[in-house]
Amino acid sequence: MGLLWSSSVTIPSSVLIIGSGVFGLSTAYSLCKNPLFDNTSITLVDRQPFPSPDGSSIDTSRIVRPDYASPPYTRLASAAQSLWRTTFAPQHYHENGLCITASGSEEKYVSSSLANVQALGTGKIEVLKNSDDVKRVTGTENASGSAGYINWSSGWVDAEGAMRWLHSKISQLNRVNFLTGTVTKLLINHTTHAVSGAHLQDGRTLTASLTILSAGAWTPSLLDLRGIANATGQVLVYLPITPSEESRLATLPTLLNLSTGLFLIPPSQGLLKIARHGHGYANPTTIPHPESANPSDTITVSLPPHSASHSQSVPQEGESACRAFLSHVYPSLSYTSSSSSRPFTKTRVCWYTDTQTGDFLISYHPKYTGLFVATGGSGHAFKFLPVIGDKIVECVLGNTPEDFRGKWEWPVKRVSEELWEGDGSRGGPIGMVLGEEMAKIESKL
Ligand SMILES: Cc1cc2nc3c(=O)[nH]c(=O)nc-3n(C[C@H](O)[C@H](O)[C@H](O)COP(=O)(O)OP(=O)(O)OC[C@H]3O[C@@H](n4cnc5c(N)ncnc54)[C@H](O)[C@@H]3O)c2cc1C
Ligand SMILES: *[C@@H]1O[C@H](CO)[C@@H](O)[C@H](O)[C@H]1NC(C)=O
Ligand SMILES: *[C@@H]1O[C@H](CO)[C@@H](O)[C@H](O)[C@H]1NC(C)=O
Ligand SMILES: *[C@@H]1O[C@H](CO)[C@@H](O)[C@H](O)[C@H]1NC(C)=O
Ligand SMILES: *[C@@H]1O[C@H](CO)[C@@H](O)[C@H](O)[C@H]1NC(C)=O
Ligand SMILES: *[C@@H]1O[C@H](CO)[C@@H](O)[C@H](O)[C@H]1NC(C)=O
Ligand SMILES: *[C@@H]1O[C@H](CO)[C@@H](O)[C@H](O)[C@H]1NC(C)=O
Repeated sequence: MGLLWSSSVTIPSSVLIIGSGVFGLSTAYSLCKNPLFDNTSITLVDRQPFPSPDGSSIDTSRIVRPDYASPPYTRLASAAQSLWRTTFAPQHYHENGLCITASGSEEKYVSSSLANVQALGTGKIEVLKNSDDVKRVTGTENASGSAGYINWSSGWVDAEGAMRWLHSKISQLNRVNFLTGTVTKLLINHTTHAVSGAHLQDGRTLTASLTILSAGAWTPSLLDLRGIANATGQVLVYLPITPSEESRLATLPTLLNLSTGLFLIPPSQGLLKIARHGHGYANPTTIPHPESANPSDTITVSLPPHSASHSQSVPQEGESACRAFLSHVYPSLSYTSSSSSRPFTKTRVCWYTDTQTGDFLISYHPKYTGLFVATGGSGHAFKFLPVIGDKIVECVLGNTPEDFRGKWEWPVKRVSEELWEGDGSRGGPIGMVLGEEMAKIESKL
């Protein structure tokens, strides 16, 4: 726990956290536990009562894997995993293993992840040289790929369960004032460049000496993050399965094909989830410039759609990709005995907050005092829930961990999205726009 703080940082008398996902909720917990903040009032505002149903942190499952292509994340993920196994919501953590396969250009990411994971020590890993290997170790009906590796020490977590666990821990401490309200604008003094809180849609104003902005994929609606962070929509589908099917799959590993980005997590609560860790859908939206005092200034950025119903249905191309993956690895689950497709009961577009490099954005704002940003999950932040709050508080105290200097800090320059390098882990189609893909379904109906 960070007790050291940089002399340039003053401990704030009040903190306002915007957003109760992984970043916001874990920060609230770490602030409560840190004696330096004993006299700090802490408010956490979210536009929806907890748990926010369309928040990226609320879902049946999230993968917990330490095999990153980047050693700092591998180390941090290992630390998080030790806590998942022992003291941090362990009842929601399951160690089923993760089988990663790839073909073509993504092979490089797989082999450098493998090198890191092997450098960490020996463990329950198997290298899979051909599709027979893949089929045998994953227990599927058809092989999910022709080469790759499996690490039996990786796991998955019931994300909503773990978030509820953390929320109740915080509630017991009686330190955090949880509010429901939609932030429409930060309170920016354009003369002093100071942020002093936020305006809510219902007319309330919340003031604080430090505002921590952690609104996930919605963050670019509250701050100009063009060239820094961008919301991309990812497809999810759920297939209801019977208790006997569920028990048959319960101990099988998670499958991830990095070439397509498609993955399948062991079932939970009668639902088998198939999703795509891909380049995603952009949803260009024109909004008032969040940092301008002039309401006629606008910017166009990718954001999750306003209407909740839109986020409950997915483009046909995404659903078809998930269906093809399921039909390939588990034909018996995908089709009924009369060979028609068993329906997905729920589909959803879930939003990543992508950054240039896939690194998180955990930093004071370079221009506005009193504003700190904790976002940029880039599709991989959930596993860090047990540790990320403490790291965020270290950054708030002016001590960005050595491993993450130059990664989590505010980027030196804005880079146009088409030049972003990402973290090399995404598969599937590039450059899709949500509205265009949705229109393709509508025109078919
Ligand atoms: C489909 C999918 C699969 C994933 N799989 C994995 C995985 O396997 N492993 C892994 O480690 N990670 C995974 N991730 C990534 C991980 O879930 C995210 O990085 C993480 O949950 C992001 O948390 P967050 O706090 O940034 O955002 P969120 O959880 O979305 O939280 C943001 C909150 O801000 C609130 N908010 C938004 N706007 C406002 C406003 N104006 N006023 C007030 N409140 C507001 C929202 O209601 C929301 O509760 C996955 C993500 C997705 C979408
Ligand atoms: C909090 O306030 C109490 C009472 O004024 C004081 O004794 C204590 O040192 C303060 N703690 C911190 C961390 O500032
Ligand atoms: C597999 O993952 C675990 C952590 O979950 C890691 O500690 C271990 O080193 C990995 N296995 C191998 C052989 O590297
Ligand atoms: C991954 O998906 C691709 C594209 O569908 C497929 O050709 C391949 O066999 C799958 N597995 C591997 C290991 O690439
Ligand atoms: C901005 O801050 C200055 C200096 O504290 C103050 O005089 C001014 O009234 C503030 N402006 C607004 C719009 O609050
Ligand atoms: C965001 O990402 C998408 C998908 O990669 C891209 O098409 C889009 O141009 C990016 N930028 C904005 C502002 O939407
Ligand atoms: C699955 O494997 C069987 C047996 O090898 C094969 O006949 C069948 O075509 C495969 N199904 C798919 C969808 O690949």
